[in-house]
Amino acid sequence: MAREGAIYVCQACGAVHAKWSGQCPACGEWNTLVEEVQAARPPGGLKPAKGARQRGISFETLEAEDADPPRIATGVSEFDRVCGGGVVPGSAILLAGDPGVGKSTLLLQVCANAALGGARVAYVSGEEAVEQIRSRAARMGVSQAPVKLAAETALRDILDAIRREPFDLVIVDSIQTLWSDALEAGPGSVAQVRACAGELVRLAKKKGVSVILVGHVTKDGQIAGPRVVEHMVDAVLSFEGERGYPFRILRAAKNRFGATDEIGVFEMGDAGLREVRNPSALFLGEGGERAAGAAVFAGIEGSRPVLVEFQALVAPSAYGTPRRAVVGWDSGRLAMVLAVLEARCGLGFGDRDVYLNVAGGLRINEPAADLAAAAALASSALETPLPQGCVVFGEISLSGEVRSVGRMEARMREAAKLGFDCALAPNAAGEGSPPLTVMGSGRLAEAVRRIGDEAWSTQVVRA
Ligand code: TYD
Ligand code: MG
Repeated sequence: MAREGAIYVCQACGAVHAKWSGQCPACGEWNTLVEEVQAARPPGGLKPAKGARQRGISFETLEAEDADPPRIATGVSEFDRVCGGGVVPGSAILLAGDPGVGKSTLLLQVCANAALGGARVAYVSGEEAVEQIRSRAARMGVSQAPVKLAAETALRDILDAIRREPFDLVIVDSIQTLWSDALEAGPGSVAQVRACAGELVRLAKKKGVSVILVGHVTKDGQIAGPRVVEHMVDAVLSFEGERGYPFRILRAAKNRFGATDEIGVFEMGDAGLREVRNPSALFLGEGGERAAGAAVFAGIEGSRPVLVEFQALVAPSAYGTPRRAVVGWDSGRLAMVLAVLEARCGLGFGDRDVYLNVAGGLRINEPAADLAAAAALASSALETPLPQGCVVFGEISLSGEVRSVGRMEARMREAAKLGFDCALAPNAAGEGSPPLTVMGSGRLAEAVRRIGDEAWSTQVVRA
């Protein structure tokens, strides 16, 4: 029987139910509903109490009286850029990522750099002992930074310390380890995480201290338990990396103070994370001859052009149902491009396995990559390599048209800088004076014909 005032909160998705059940009706997880007792409603509802002086709210204007306070530049420029140009004073940031991806390493680097730059910084760890953090700092060569370090999980003590000392930036690693004695629920439960994050965010806003909370991610990529925390904070950053690759990518999933399409690229090494200023060189991999099935995509990630190699393999299938496997790109988009190649260009994939891979562990979401994927697939199917100095970009419509995309000039300039000399691109890319030879195609069939046409390579050399 449900108790008076009790609600049941799913620890997996945060959904609230009036009745207990073995399976959460919202997300389908088993044994995740936990009882929470709600405070009784005050008598008289939300009307002002009799006799009490009416407080009401006072309204403000949109125009600020004084200029925005300067952002805290942490000096880790890839991190600052993803934040929208430094950390806004009084803001709360959630940094989410898989265990072991390097969240603690990144934040130690960020706070050590900020402290060396003059910010007053505290690093509170609920996961590691002070000694462990010290040895990591020594390995990263940042032991001299004036960071105030503590291993603590009691929310009350952490809040107290923030109230007492004038910090600019406080890092809490991780929100799941914090524990408030005002609640009965155990650490890591939705109720605790919500309460602890709420208190920290409130204090941050009130005192103008920026807080960065670390959040763990479950196996299916959700920020464990506290989806609720995502709504409380000003920015949600996710730190990602493919297993087996040293590259780590920082993305903003939500940002009240900046764009959400920026990425920061890092490389994990022996002495911590190294910032990668020129990701194109990294994602293009080893130089040398590009084989059939490889196409270099001139993409834009956030505000930066990034070149990355698409690799396709089209091979006869041994099974009745051919395989389609894709890494780093959307499988729905692959299905669409295959369908357009079949219907509009006469290439058959019905009895062939198709594998598509984005090199370097990067994930591409831009529609501008359609033509690069199609070029890689066609090149593999026709067993003809693309010309060596060629980059590809363009969106493909279902009718087989190649459409122009944003910032074509910037894409081509980056390619030219890295030694590429031609682009397989929408017709509009050739307008004006492009920095490299443009092989414009209005239709996908035309682009595929170009790829199949072996004379093309020599033609480009002459152009
Ligand atoms: P960590 O920051 O502890 O990850 P998280 O806080 O996200 O769980 O990083 C753990 C991994 O990073 C670990 O597998 C070791 C690796 N690492 C390096 O390769 N080089 C380094 O200098 C450091 C500090 C960590
Ligand atoms: Mg950690």
